[in-house]
Amino acid sequence: MSLKPDDPSRHESDEIRRAALRGAALTRQLLAFSRSQKPDAKLLDLNEAVLRLESILRGLVGERVSLTVRVSSTPTRVRVEPGQLEQMLLNLVVNARDAMPEGGPIDVLVEPVRLDERSVLRYPGIADGPFARLAVTDTGVGIDPDVEAHIFEPLFTTKDASKGTGLGLSIVYGIAKAAGGTVSFTTGPTQGTTFEVLLPLVEAMANKMADG
Ligand SMILES: Nc1ncnc2c1ncn2[C@@H]1O[C@H](COP(=O)(O)OP(=O)(O)OP(=O)(O)O)[C@@H](O)[C@H]1O
Ligand SMILES: [Mg+2]
Repeated sequence: MSLKPDDPSRHESDEIRRAALRGAALTRQLLAFSRSQKPDAKLLDLNEAVLRLESILRGLVGERVSLTVRVSSTPTRVRVEPGQLEQMLLNLVVNARDAMPEGGPIDVLVEPVRLDERSVLRYPGIADGPFARLAVTDTGVGIDPDVEAHIFEPLFTTKDASKGTGLGLSIVYGIAKAAGGTVSFTTGPTQGTTFEVLLPLVEAMANKMADG
């Protein structure tokens, strides 16, 4: 349907169109989320899993973004459902892309980290120990202080209806928590933003014991 710019129904039809776009985007996120709800966590090497997604990520970010993927030289095993891992990484990279309308660099990093009693204090809800870190860093607009408190809330978005539903980070958070990990971020108006997902590291010893 197309209406002339001065048609009195124009404003309403724009509203309807925006609502429909938001509904469609919401449905896509929910479908992807429900599809990946199977409790099929697998033992996988985060290095390999992320490298396998690299070409999808490049397609997503477009030509103005230069994507760098760095993985660890040592195996970085985690227990997570592969579809959920993909959904976390895609959501973080799309957010990073959206934060840089003019383009720029995005870094994806996988590394094992050992959180001691002190360093774990930055991450509420997890205990000290070995983790795999999946970090996505952009050089974008950063997150306003008054927005920071809300970004993990479902349906919170600062984007217009055609671009965002506000579900991405709440899903990332839910998946990370369900996998025994967490999500955190650092941001600033001139430095851009880093999101990091921490997942419990499955170490070689524990691995052998679990598998008998
Ligand atoms: N890398 C980032 N840089 C700046 N702001 C961000 C970044 N990631 C998230 N945000 C802010 O957090 C809000 C919520 O993000 P979230 O991924 O949950 O939803 P969305 O991206 O708006 O929509 P959706 O992911 O459902 O398409 C965003 O609207 C944006 O304001
Ligand atoms: Mg998002």
